Amino acid sequence: MTLTASRRFQFTADLTMCRVLNGMWQVSGAHGPIEPARAIDQMFAYHDAGFTTWDLADHYGPAEDFIGEFRRRFAARGAERLPEIQAFTKWVPRPGRITRRIVDDAIDVSLSRMGVECLDLVQFHWWDYDDASYLDALKHLADLQHEGKIRHLALTNFDTKRLRVIADQAIRFVSNQVQYSLVDRRPALRMASFCGDQAMTLLAYGALLGGLLSEKYLGRPEPGRSELNTASLQKYKNMIDIWGGWALFQELLSALKGIAAKHQVSIANIGVRYVLDQPAVAGVIVGARLGVAQHISDNTRVFGFTLDADDLAAIEPVLAKSRDLIELIGDCGDEYR
Ligand SMILES: NC(=O)c1ccc[n+]([C@@H]2O[C@H](COP(=O)([O-])OP(=O)(O)OC[C@H]3O[C@@H](n4cnc5c(N)ncnc54)[C@H](OP(=O)(O)O)[C@@H]3O)[C@@H](O)[C@H]2O)c1
Repeated sequence: MTLTASRRFQFTADLTMCRVLNGMWQVSGAHGPIEPARAIDQMFAYHDAGFTTWDLADHYGPAEDFIGEFRRRFAARGAERLPEIQAFTKWVPRPGRITRRIVDDAIDVSLSRMGVECLDLVQFHWWDYDDASYLDALKHLADLQHEGKIRHLALTNFDTKRLRVIADQAIRFVSNQVQYSLVDRRPALRMASFCGDQAMTLLAYGALLGGLLSEKYLGRPEPGRSELNTASLQKYKNMIDIWGGWALFQELLSALKGIAAKHQVSIANIGVRYVLDQPAVAGVIVGARLGVAQHISDNTRVFGFTLDADDLAAIEPVLAKSRDLIELIGDCGDEYR
């Protein structure tokens, strides 16, 4: 598969997406309060700047409702323009037996909240591989896809071993959403090549480490827990601690700053560009605290430059000093299990 440096990506035969997706975990409440009207106004700003693809989940607070309201207001521009919006949700069921009824009910709730007759993409998460009910869930999802309620099926946080198990089920999954950043390069080890073989892509999250991978934290002393005021900052600070610690992270930020200055872009741009350029990666999801903070014009710069061999040579020696996250945590998604 050839991924170009362009802004759009032909994700499936019938769906193109923006390669930088807007992540909606940031409206869940775990990243501070969100004011719905301001948030939805800002969704128009993202869309009009070309960031037309949203990543959300059934459990991200009001995220699915925001998509519903955004679509209702967007329809004033002409209902025929609604397909300009791509909304990729997730279904994250509680562990336990999965019946067709449970899947029906969950998907119907998402359809109704998002105000659509067919979900563009449902990304499935499962907590416990010892419980093989996930295979029942996948079959029920495939049935709903055949019935027209879901356009495409996908996974999130599945490891390579289970991707192989799932590949045997003869159900087509278009992507797996995993953590992928300069700090967490686990997908490069096994998963990317498996995805390449299966014509499956990766959607990456955590590329900006919740905002830690930016000028804001360059040269800063190690932040304490009280300073890390979003769920995302706490999650990724923990990841940095496992990876190599704050001093090594500062070395990485310094190296990235040099590269950013050369290209006249930001450290965040380098972090996103790096992940976008990895094999099998279709898109990078960047969290958006809608109505609170936005980085639309900065993130647009990601599409205006490429990293060269000198840039990669400046990053690699720093990354080489880090610990092996596969050994310490396991394959992608094992941090959740
Ligand atoms: N499948 C899963 O299990 C899973 C897990 C985590 C996340 N996700 C998805 O991935 C999305 C991303 O979330 P994440 O937690 O990984 O966060 P992230 O994208 O690494 O970080 C998002 C934060 O980075 C900052 N930021 C964005 N653009 C910037 C720029 N150009 N310059 C400087 N700072 C910038 C913003 O901070 P400020 O708001 O403070 O300005 C923003 O809130 C989520 O919304 C969700 O859709 C999925």
